[in-house]
Amino acid sequence: MIVRKPPMGWNSWNTFASNIDENLIKETADAMVETGLLDAGYEYLVIDDCWAERERGRDGRMVPDRVKFPHGMKAVADYVHSRGLKFGMYSCAGHMTCAGYPGSFDYEFIDAATFAEWGVDYLKYDYCFRPMNQQGHLLYKRMGLALANCGRDICFSACSWGADQTNEWIKSTGAHLWRSTGDINDSWKSVHDLTMAQFGYLATNGQGCFNDMDMLIVGMHGKGNVAVTGLSDEEYKTHFSIWSMFGSPLMIGCDVRNMSDETKNILLNREVIAIDQDEAYRQPFVCGNHWNNREVLVLAKFLEGGDIAVGIFNMMDDSPCDPFISFDSLGLNRATGKALRFTDLWTGEDAGVHRGVFRPAATPAHGCKLYRAKLVDAE
Ligand code: GLA
Repeated sequence: MIVRKPPMGWNSWNTFASNIDENLIKETADAMVETGLLDAGYEYLVIDDCWAERERGRDGRMVPDRVKFPHGMKAVADYVHSRGLKFGMYSCAGHMTCAGYPGSFDYEFIDAATFAEWGVDYLKYDYCFRPMNQQGHLLYKRMGLALANCGRDICFSACSWGADQTNEWIKSTGAHLWRSTGDINDSWKSVHDLTMAQFGYLATNGQGCFNDMDMLIVGMHGKGNVAVTGLSDEEYKTHFSIWSMFGSPLMIGCDVRNMSDETKNILLNREVIAIDQDEAYRQPFVCGNHWNNREVLVLAKFLEGGDIAVGIFNMMDDSPCDPFISFDSLGLNRATGKALRFTDLWTGEDAGVHRGVFRPAATPAHGCKLYRAKLVDAE
């Protein structure tokens, strides 16, 4: 199986942790369809940790929690599929999952076969409780091989948090995406720190095995399992724009049954999603004048077809910024006779045609600007 674009969907962990059951999953599937999330590309519905009984069955297979999932997982998968979505589940490379449920170590082929039988399309695979005499790359290779031979296309989502130099070996394991950093929480500091850490991994990012900056916190507003302070809508917009600029998987973490209009506006902005899902999948690069203090990020990304995505991300806590974008730093010098027409992807407005340099109005603290720039002839 080859995965050509960063996966998009929803995952139960950020909001619900162990408070999951068949009804929640069905209601979430319904909401993903009814709110337009599926149409916008969010196709995977993933159940994270805490879905299983604490003990395997006598046949060695994992058993879904009998109270939470009284009709078993196949029934859940069938419902999710009936709504046009794909179904994801979770296990772990160690003896136990991070929350203490059975892990897949030494059961890789049995578990892959079980997931395939249930109709699973995506497996998130964690890194807790691993035997210390086992190397990380081998643990992921074991499951990578089991999934590749289970008879069903299953997207393999590795979750070893960047530990043990994951970036050096993950592409050899069969993983289609890999968590490059530790767990996100619903605070600005978390978004800030995950963003800065990601710069160390840009070179490993690419088609077929995507860097995963972790599930989104957009719309959580301090509620749920990874809740801390919550963010303002403006900050969620910045978070979503950065994840899109970096081409991270977009896995929603809020309760999609109860989204505010502003949360929907962010998650359903197709122009921004298109930056994330751009077919060329090129890495972003620094192109502005504020890079030295590292707290104002001016980034660009060449898109398929010749357009350029340009973003300004003000990571500073207390002051606005107004960096300029010099077109030289985009590879476009004046001698070409070309200019750029900017469209603001959050307001939808035409931000004008500019030659040589573009300096947008100030961006507030923790705010962002995101544009699609098109090459035109200078007048
Ligand atoms: C780890 C992962 C999280 C989540 C939990 C579940 O912390 O990084 O994303 O899956 O385990 O226990």
